[in-house]
Amino acid sequence: MRRGRTDSRPGVAPGVSVTVRHGDAADRRFIEELAERTVMASVASFRHPQEMMVHFALTRLLETVETQSHVTLVAEREGRRAGFLLLLDDLPDEVTSTPQAFVAYMAVEPELQRQGIGKALLEAAEREAKRRGLPYMSLMVTEENTAARSLYASAGYFTERQLLCKEL
Ligand SMILES: CC(C)(COP(=O)(O)OP(=O)(O)OC[C@H]1O[C@@H](n2cnc3c(N)ncnc32)[C@H](O)[C@@H]1OP(=O)(O)O)[C@@H](O)C(=O)NCCC(=O)NCCS
Repeated sequence: MRRGRTDSRPGVAPGVSVTVRHGDAADRRFIEELAERTVMASVASFRHPQEMMVHFALTRLLETVETQSHVTLVAEREGRRAGFLLLLDDLPDEVTSTPQAFVAYMAVEPELQRQGIGKALLEAAEREAKRRGLPYMSLMVTEENTAARSLYASAGYFTERQLLCKEL
């Protein structure tokens, strides 16, 4: 799959194209590095997270995704890797058992954010889910992660359940 689009919104040079393609083994290092550089933005300060432990959990997540049925999407901007999305396509909802696609993690290069790349990745993931006959897309996001929450809200996602927490 290669979907191109020309973005003409403010902040994006006219004519700059963003394409989303399937990832392969050659993208693995890019995905690991970008995930490492961005993961702290996606965790709550509430639990006073230690960077080392977050990175450990991230490694475990990436390994878990590898062992499950998934789709890797890589966004390129002017031929250069700019972001990725890891989509689990066989992870039914744990409460209702409804089939769904689940975004395990996504990230965009910090200097290329706010240029529509996250949106393009999410749209491509939704197309992939629909192609597989999956009726829902689901994901988890930290309350403090304003950028990600805004992206998902603008794409039509709403809160189905909440993870409640209290410091003891
Ligand atoms: C979340 C993330 C992937 C968004 O990627 P992005 O390419 O910057 O997103 P887009 O440019 O496609 O944004 C689309 C819309 O989302 C919203 N949005 C994105 N970033 C935002 C921000 N920092 N503040 C407010 N709204 C934001 C806006 O509505 C935006 O549309 P607009 O630019 O026309 O206003 C990126 O911020 C990121 O990589 N964050 C670190 C990793 C992370 O948190 N991943 C998510 C884990 S759940």
